[in-house]
Amino acid sequence: ASPLSTPTPTPKSKATQVQLAIVFGLWYFQNIVFNIYNKKALNLFPFPWLLASFQLFVGSIWMVALWSLKLQPCPKITKPFIVALLGPALFHTVGHISACVSFSKVAVSFTHVIKSSEPVFSVVFSSFLGDTYPLKVWLSILPIVMGCGLAAVTEVSFNSQGLWGALISNVGFVLRNIYSKRSLQSFKEVNGLNLYGWISIISLFYLFPVAIFVEGSQWVQGYHQAIAASAGKPYTFYTWVLISGLFYHLYNQSSYQALDEISPLTFSVGNTMKRVVVIVSTVLVFRNPVRPLNALGSAIAIFGTFLYSQATSGSKKKAIEEEKKN
Ligand code: 3PG
Repeated sequence: ASPLSTPTPTPKSKATQVQLAIVFGLWYFQNIVFNIYNKKALNLFPFPWLLASFQLFVGSIWMVALWSLKLQPCPKITKPFIVALLGPALFHTVGHISACVSFSKVAVSFTHVIKSSEPVFSVVFSSFLGDTYPLKVWLSILPIVMGCGLAAVTEVSFNSQGLWGALISNVGFVLRNIYSKRSLQSFKEVNGLNLYGWISIISLFYLFPVAIFVEGSQWVQGYHQAIAASAGKPYTFYTWVLISGLFYHLYNQSSYQALDEISPLTFSVGNTMKRVVVIVSTVLVFRNPVRPLNALGSAIAIFGTFLYSQATSGSKKKAIEEEKKN
């Protein structure tokens, strides 16, 4: 996931820096755990629509518990706030379900390589909406496109639904970020955790009815098959599903907490590094075969994402300086 708000960068105290390092560490760790157990659950029960809905359900229950136990102050819920969230939550749902469909079809690492091309979608969609970018930004997205292309044609687990799922996930998350910036302007006082909590709840309402429609008729049979395949250990399967739900919420919670403290740019660099860590961990855990050209394509794509961050960071600084001069 990526930024929803635009915090103003301020110098940070030592304590804040330590706190931020802890939040980043948690974000990466929880994301790795989510990716491993989500894939384990999908391998036994290949129904991403139900699993994705369950993950949002766990997050919703978690937030209601935090609010009811007063561990987290519940934001004042007004009609305009909910209306402002409808668009971002819809695109969050699209981003989440399409990533989960992709995870169910291909190696987790491949989904994340394709997801590292999110900046390409960001530049293209923002340009359609009137933003302009300097040439170096456009040039920086070339290696991303070429690296992803190379990784896709050399991927052992390649499957077109897996590729499309990851690409649509990029569209969903980029549109979510663009719409959030526009519609949530007047709700900046709502902290990241509460914002994400409400997005989860609304997303669940969007996703679950569609999930019933898409794959509901196969759940009972799929459940019996999963239990049969878990070799007399159904609790192992339940535990995997539960861990995937819990850690899906936890890693998003940590990432939104990090966002309260850092700029969207630092966030996106952090998110790319997260993908590197997740790719390496899941390749090791699932022992996915990786062809040398595939590794090269993935590395070029990820390197392109770093170039993109550098290019956008430079052009932002320039814009701020120019604004100051005028
Ligand atoms: C999801 O299921 O929403 C994806 O795991 C999102 O991936 P990301 O948070 O790494 O973009």
